[in-house]
Amino acid sequence: MSAFAAPVAAHTQDMQAIDFTAWSQAHLTAVEAALDRWVGHGAPAGLGEAMRYAVLDGGKRLRPLLVLAAHEAACSGSGQGARFHAEAALRAACAVELIHAYSLVHDDMPCMDNDVLRRGKPTVHVQFGQAQALLAGDALQAFAFELLAPEDADASIPPAIQATLCRLLARAAGSAGMAGGQAIDLASVGRALTEDELRHMHRLKTGALLQGSVLMGAVCGQATPDAFGALSAYGATVGLAFQVVDDILDVVADSATLGKTAGKDAAADKPTYVSLLGLERAQAYAYELLAEALAALVRSGLPDTRALAALAAMVVRRSH
Ligand code: IPE
Ligand code: IPE
Ligand code: MG
Ligand code: MG
Ligand code: MG
Repeated sequence: MSAFAAPVAAHTQDMQAIDFTAWSQAHLTAVEAALDRWVGHGAPAGLGEAMRYAVLDGGKRLRPLLVLAAHEAACSGSGQGARFHAEAALRAACAVELIHAYSLVHDDMPCMDNDVLRRGKPTVHVQFGQAQALLAGDALQAFAFELLAPEDADASIPPAIQATLCRLLARAAGSAGMAGGQAIDLASVGRALTEDELRHMHRLKTGALLQGSVLMGAVCGQATPDAFGALSAYGATVGLAFQVVDDILDVVADSATLGKTAGKDAAADKPTYVSLLGLERAQAYAYELLAEALAALVRSGLPDTRALAALAAMVVRRSH
């Protein structure tokens, strides 16, 4: 781990300069208010309630923060102020969280991971029944795309940006991304995957949505092709690191801290980075990925990537 301390330390100094706590608090407040304003209204009573239950009051909101941090980083490079397409960035931040929340609702269902605890509460199917959980997931997914293509003229998001955001999110969520990775996950129970196979599964089931978050922010901030390429590499690496750490936390943390059932990967005989490499090497790998992600930010040439650097460090160092 010590081999990777230097680049992390350099970015840690930058982090202090932006006051990451204040930065994330401000953005989290905006995201929570927008989700509360947008989600589940006008739906039949039980369905709307299940949608809001799945989305509000919980979650680290990492994906929205990645969208907003990538947006700011891209704006810093294109000479635009942080307000440039800010409405599009906020909508993208909420849209990706809706896809994520829906993926959790379905992931927890008896036909998948069969979990009863999520975000410190009973899972959606435990609270509302399986049919309502299925439909809440369906409706959240559809609403994510509606958010990206608003009817109201005052959102004033250029149609080309709306279309690109929809394409990026669809790709990240679909068979070449999250849903595809989940299919591999289910087919891998009880199997010993090679490291290449495991990396591929993690890149799809979790990495794709985190990378997509970064790319959506980059599009809203009109990143140059070079910056976009480097941010894409950053997103892919942080996305993989996130699931490596999720595998580790499943072993080392308790259910109260996680807000979800600990120890379930081994119980369900799922291949993970811990089952493949052991705890120590899995942890070392997460730090290796952090160093890789920070190097991609340097390569981006963007003037201000401090929030993205802080988020990468948070992904690897988190306790839940
Ligand atoms: C959990 O994601 C599911 C994975 C993709 C590993 P998070 O750990 O981001 O869950 P919340 O949003 O904070 O509840
Ligand atoms: C979930 O992976 C990936 C998703 C697409 C939801 P996990 O099954 O490991 O996520 P947790 O541990 O239940 O949050
Ligand atoms: Mg799962
Ligand atoms: Mg699960
Ligand atoms: Mg897990």
